[in-house]
Amino acid sequence: MCGIVGYVGQRAAEDVIIDGLRRLEYRGYDSAGIALFNEQELFVEKHAGRLSVLEGYLSANPHRDARLGIGHTRWATHGAPNDVNAHPHTGCTPRFAVVHNGIIENYNELRRELMARGHRFVTETDTEVLPHLLEEVYAGDLATAVFEVVAKLRGAYALAVVTSEDPNTVIAYRQDSPLIIGLGQGENFLASDIPALLPYTRQTVVLDDGDLAVLRSSGVSFYREGKEIEKDIFTVTWDEVAAEKAGFDHFMLKEIHEQPKALRDTLSGRILEQGTNLAEEIGLTSDMIKGINRVVVVACGTAYHAGLVGKTLIERLARIHVEVDYASEFRYRQPVLNPNDLVIIISQSGETADTLAALREAKRQGCTVVAITNVVGSSVSREGQHVLHTWAGPEIAVASTKAYTTQLAALTLMAIELGLGRKTLKVTRAQELLRGLREIPLQVGEIIAQAEKIKAVAEHVAKSEHVFFIGRGLDFNVALEGALKLKEISYIHAEAYAAGELKHGTLALITAGTPVICLFTQAELQEKMVSNVEVVRARGGYTVSISSCCADVTGTISDVEIRLPETDPLLAPMLSVVPLQLLAYYAAVTRGADVDKPRNLAKSVTVE
Ligand code: M6R
Repeated sequence: MCGIVGYVGQRAAEDVIIDGLRRLEYRGYDSAGIALFNEQELFVEKHAGRLSVLEGYLSANPHRDARLGIGHTRWATHGAPNDVNAHPHTGCTPRFAVVHNGIIENYNELRRELMARGHRFVTETDTEVLPHLLEEVYAGDLATAVFEVVAKLRGAYALAVVTSEDPNTVIAYRQDSPLIIGLGQGENFLASDIPALLPYTRQTVVLDDGDLAVLRSSGVSFYREGKEIEKDIFTVTWDEVAAEKAGFDHFMLKEIHEQPKALRDTLSGRILEQGTNLAEEIGLTSDMIKGINRVVVVACGTAYHAGLVGKTLIERLARIHVEVDYASEFRYRQPVLNPNDLVIIISQSGETADTLAALREAKRQGCTVVAITNVVGSSVSREGQHVLHTWAGPEIAVASTKAYTTQLAALTLMAIELGLGRKTLKVTRAQELLRGLREIPLQVGEIIAQAEKIKAVAEHVAKSEHVFFIGRGLDFNVALEGALKLKEISYIHAEAYAAGELKHGTLALITAGTPVICLFTQAELQEKMVSNVEVVRARGGYTVSISSCCADVTGTISDVEIRLPETDPLLAPMLSVVPLQLLAYYAAVTRGADVDKPRNLAKSVTVE
């Protein structure tokens, strides 16, 4: 989850590296460091805290003559986030500097062996074994030395390495953690993610597991298992502005506002007169669709919540049994899969370690795998057999918003396509849903226009330490996402409950003034839901209803009512989640929390 940047060329390396790290800060932000080489000495500076601390130090002590360097923003795994544990790491002598993203699983064993051979360790990190190993194997060629070192490692890692022995070279190596090379004219770059490269180049090469890149100002060469290889160049089409805040106070708010466009882009070109062209786009044949025995959706966090909505949609429209699993649980419970199972992997980043491992397990067991991801060129996108991209554009805020709604749009299209393919869904019903789907982007915009009203609710909610979200059916699935949003950015304890479950225990926690956010979008469940909310009101709960149905009752049983535009109940999650995103956002702002960089979290979770 850490961010890595590297540079070699004619510019002041510190400028490029700090600029790149700023664009990657969403990957980790508990400490930051840089190694710069100015043809005489390797200079390493690292500090606990945000990148601005490192920047402050560098502006007082610049090294602007350095034309080569590597940098890192950290999300601590081994050892507290302090100055010493921050990357880059050096060995017994300052000959090698290494930055690392991922986890070296056998570091304890390596560390013991190195110490027995006289190496002195100063950090608690797994990474520190690397420069010590390099000291042992280096014999004049850094690439060869890195190959020798990685042969001793187990785990997931992306590395960037420089040495004072070779002032013109940066080495990058990837194993199960993302690393992208940026190609320039007389300069070259590396980074954990594309936004860091965009101000400088759109020509990129995505490293695969086992790839090593040798970066010099004159060019980049690629190697695997010691042999030179050719790599495809991937031209990035989205622009830098898409990864900037564009006048919004936070990326999260900007990304909430971008949802109409993200949804339009995701739906665009995929809706036909009588159905969708999804199967053709992702290469699912009609026989494959008819032969599906079961669907298994695997994902983490927000993407898992999207999967829960997908389950209802696919079961209702295609009448296939669907299971939804947390990726972190899936692979370790020895899942029983068979080749007629369709496994749907959902991941915004396409780099979540658990999700990627689940994808590989499903492929290993011979299942057909559909990967829904937002990042073209990500590991999930490259390894998925049938890839359905969401076109949300870069999502920078740690809290996922537009990724979720676009995942729902993709899953809706998928459910319709499966239903039509299996003849469980009538064309007329599919057309009705597709008409509704076309309206969704505009309707999301209408909800965002109610932001001031939601802000007022958020200011009230922000005073509470406990908040509950309740709903039935699809509303319960969205309630789970609403609770996750609130807790991750505002640090308010939030729980989602299937409304009918409250009375089986949790109702004991509802006292006078406890905020309970009640979702009402499923007309057929209206009466039951009303009774559940009445029970909350009888205990003095502060009820906020978010409703696209039941207008005659929700107003009377709620302290505040937020009305949604009318839509088909199956499409409602794409609307009802939007007020919940705004509620979480404004509650976090009211409490003075760092919205885009919530404590302890990182955007891309590349460790298990
Ligand atoms: O990139 P992914 O979709 O695989 O990420 C999975 C989760 O880490 C992610 O959805 C997380 O729960 C959200 N950032 C929460 O808002």
